[in-house]
Amino acid sequence: MASSGKLLKMRSGLFILFVWTSLSVDASTPNGCSGIPDEANALVPESSKKDSYNPGDTIDFTCQHGFTSSKKITYVCVEKKWAKLRHGVCSPKRCESPSDILNGHYIRLNGENFAFGTTIRYICNEGYQMMTQTDTRTCRDGGWDNRLPVCEEISCGLNSTETNIKVERLPYDDELIKHGHRLTFSCVGDGLKLEGESEITCQINGEWSSSFPKCVEATCPLNTTMEDLNIERDPDVEGPVKSGHRITFSCIGDGLKLKGQREITCQSNGQWSSPFPKCEEVTCTAKLKGNMKSNIKEQPGREISVKPGQTVTLHCVNKESQLKGQGRIQCQPSGEWNPPFPECTGGICGPPPYVENADTKEMAKTEYKAWEKVEYKCFDKYTLDDRPTYSGFKTCKNGERTGNIYCLNPCSVTLDTMNEKGIKLKYGPPRKIFSPHKDQIQFACLRENERMKGNSKQICSNGTMTLPECV
Ligand SMILES: *[C@@H]1O[C@H](CO)[C@@H](O)[C@H](O)[C@H]1NC(C)=O
Ligand SMILES: *[C@@H]1O[C@H](CO)[C@@H](O)[C@H](O)[C@H]1NC(C)=O
Ligand SMILES: *[C@@H]1O[C@H](CO)[C@@H](O)[C@H](O)[C@H]1NC(C)=O
Repeated sequence: MASSGKLLKMRSGLFILFVWTSLSVDASTPNGCSGIPDEANALVPESSKKDSYNPGDTIDFTCQHGFTSSKKITYVCVEKKWAKLRHGVCSPKRCESPSDILNGHYIRLNGENFAFGTTIRYICNEGYQMMTQTDTRTCRDGGWDNRLPVCEEISCGLNSTETNIKVERLPYDDELIKHGHRLTFSCVGDGLKLEGESEITCQINGEWSSSFPKCVEATCPLNTTMEDLNIERDPDVEGPVKSGHRITFSCIGDGLKLKGQREITCQSNGQWSSPFPKCEEVTCTAKLKGNMKSNIKEQPGREISVKPGQTVTLHCVNKESQLKGQGRIQCQPSGEWNPPFPECTGGICGPPPYVENADTKEMAKTEYKAWEKVEYKCFDKYTLDDRPTYSGFKTCKNGERTGNIYCLNPCSVTLDTMNEKGIKLKYGPPRKIFSPHKDQIQFACLRENERMKGNSKQICSNGTMTLPECV
């Protein structure tokens, strides 16, 4: 059955082929046209195509998708040839110039003259972000596709916060949080500390400079790594040290003493009231005066430092000075000397010491008696410092010189410097200034049309004088 059906179909196909060829032979009437002419970007609708065309027959072209013609395109069959009767031309359709957008612009990705198929992309200006999903538009048959993109100023989002945190500088209602806006945070209530930054800034990319902080229960760090330090907690509990908790320290082992606070408290901000103390070896120390000598090695600054139990012998080195106290002393476990550290009194001193920018008033001697004074005088233009504890004298005391002497510097201002600042001395001819401490100098402008910036009266202070300037 099936094979005979197939045979039947084949036969009818052959028959149709035969009929068609005989017809087309028939249709090729003298002077008729066959086929259709070539017309760029245009086509003849299938429904209006004919097998053959007689002289005088016309065909109309329509433009291909995306193309358009302002005139009709018609061909006529004349003596076996097609002739163009209506002279339309299909050229690409064009879209209107793309619309501009606020706070952004477009660039062309392909195509020309905004012709069919051209794609453009919109880009937001710095500080603005694309609010629409697509940023491209393509010129289609019916004009530009997609919606016109929208650029909005970049803003940062707000995260919800717990009630234990206070946020300052929040925006009003639904006002956008713009680039540069700063939020500050603080914890509400005692015993809480801020974890994270206390201030965050909205950045140009719409992100916060750091994440929102949190308020967590304040705990103080407990360092238990110090071997020789014994720690007692109050209350005596395990776990983190909370605000209000205290710890007490003591040193483990002999010959050690605590340096620092013995008891510290964890404060509500999570910090200890004082740093952890340290355990140090107990020593007895003293500074040796110049008129004394000891039997042990000294450290820089003539310091002696010994351990408990050790004895030290001291004596005076200066002629005519006497030891006041015991010459043999011992370091106690408490760090004190027993008997107390002695002193050398009386004694003579050598030549007067050097003092900068000063000289002795009298001829210097090679030896001075106990309590004998030497008077100094500052060099010309230098001024003796008369603050309390300063004087012009050095006294021989216990074989050493006591007394602070200081000569304050004069001020010097050159003519060049004054010219640079456009100033001159108010009184007298132009000259270099060289005036002592506390001297007052009055300036004026060099040029009449200029105004003075700064005070016209200035005082010399230990070598420095602030100069006004004329501009
Ligand atoms: C805001 O909250 C989300 C979700 O909890 C989190 O992923 C994000 O990091 C937070 N942003 C900031 C700036 O804290
Ligand atoms: C605890 O130890 C850390 C790291 O060793 C140190 O930075 C910190 O200052 C110590 N804290 C105290 C209170 O001593
Ligand atoms: C005076 O000036 C000199 C040099 O600038 C400075 O070393 C010294 O400490 C000053 N003295 C006083 C008492 O201001």
